Amino acid sequence: AFTPRVFSGIQPSGDLHLGNYLGAIRRFVPLQETHETIYCVVDMHAITVWQEPQDLRRRTYEIAAAYIAAGLDPKKSIIFNQSQVIEHAELSWIFNCVARMGWMERMTQYKDKAGENAENASLGLFAYPSLMAADILLYKSTAVPVGEDQRQHLELTRDIAKKFNHDFKKQIKANGHKGDFFPITETLATGPAMRVKSLKDGSKKMSKSDASDLSTIYMLDGADLIAKKIKRATTDADALPSEAAGLAGRAEAENLVGIYAALSNVSVDAVLDEYGGQGWGSFKPALAELAVSVLSPIADEMQRLVAEREEMDAILRDGAARARAIAQPVMDDVRNIVGF
Ligand code: ADP
Ligand code: NA
Repeated sequence: AFTPRVFSGIQPSGDLHLGNYLGAIRRFVPLQETHETIYCVVDMHAITVWQEPQDLRRRTYEIAAAYIAAGLDPKKSIIFNQSQVIEHAELSWIFNCVARMGWMERMTQYKDKAGENAENASLGLFAYPSLMAADILLYKSTAVPVGEDQRQHLELTRDIAKKFNHDFKKQIKANGHKGDFFPITETLATGPAMRVKSLKDGSKKMSKSDASDLSTIYMLDGADLIAKKIKRATTDADALPSEAAGLAGRAEAENLVGIYAALSNVSVDAVLDEYGGQGWGSFKPALAELAVSVLSPIADEMQRLVAEREEMDAILRDGAARARAIAQPVMDDVRNIVGF
């Protein structure tokens, strides 16, 4: 039996946005009460595409600060920076030798990110999901809260765990383990806003890399800017429907209602109970007010924390030490099992 343990991470590869908050960070908080929780700033993932070193370092602090500002307690959760626990790299190499080329070639995120110019993508970008599997399985994590876009990577993590458990079955047993060595990790990605869309195009997800002006709400946006972005969000002309089924085929409407539901911790149907039949002229200001009331205090606390370098360094150092204490015995076993 595996300890119920949650792992998740965010890349310091761009400014944090509402999708990261609703799809990930916000959902990390309640899990602290029910699971052992490990939350990482995945800087080794970030460098799979070019990062200016000084920006990488600044954003690493920003994400750690966002975790805490959003309600993670460094005493209840292990909060650390991936590159400070080198076992992530070691296990990912072993997983590079477990994962099959065919599995990796099917990853849609790689295809999207490599784009037309795949010849010039880094080898690391291709291997990204193998490092992600290592992040998760290094702690024998049983559940991972993520947004929808990570579902396929989590499936690959399970495939790697299964193949490792199968290929090394004899050695796993010989090393004193009953049954599987790695757990088959569960994806936690249900609820509204698991895929927050661009405010300008309901067919695209909101993303760190979308530099375009009004499409993305960033965690550090001020109240006026948040209100402006919501006001200018693309919508159809129809009133809101009275139940969730009425949102089918209305991507932009579904997105805004989903954001409202997630921010206020109620179901989509509950939001439509209140706003069904009303137009955007009344819904958008209500959504803007709600978004500001949730995001502004977090932004303020983030700004305060990023300025507290010593406090942040102490938290990240302590988190790395606690992460290493779990990771090292797992790696000792893995090395033995593999035959190192
Ligand atoms: P990004 O895609 O913004 O670069 P990451 O790859 O670092 O972000 O992902 C961090 C977390 O945020 C993951 O759990 C991911 O699923 C989630 N996430 C990213 N974008 C969105 C979105 N638009 N909607 C919901 N969750 C998202
Ligand atoms: Na992502």
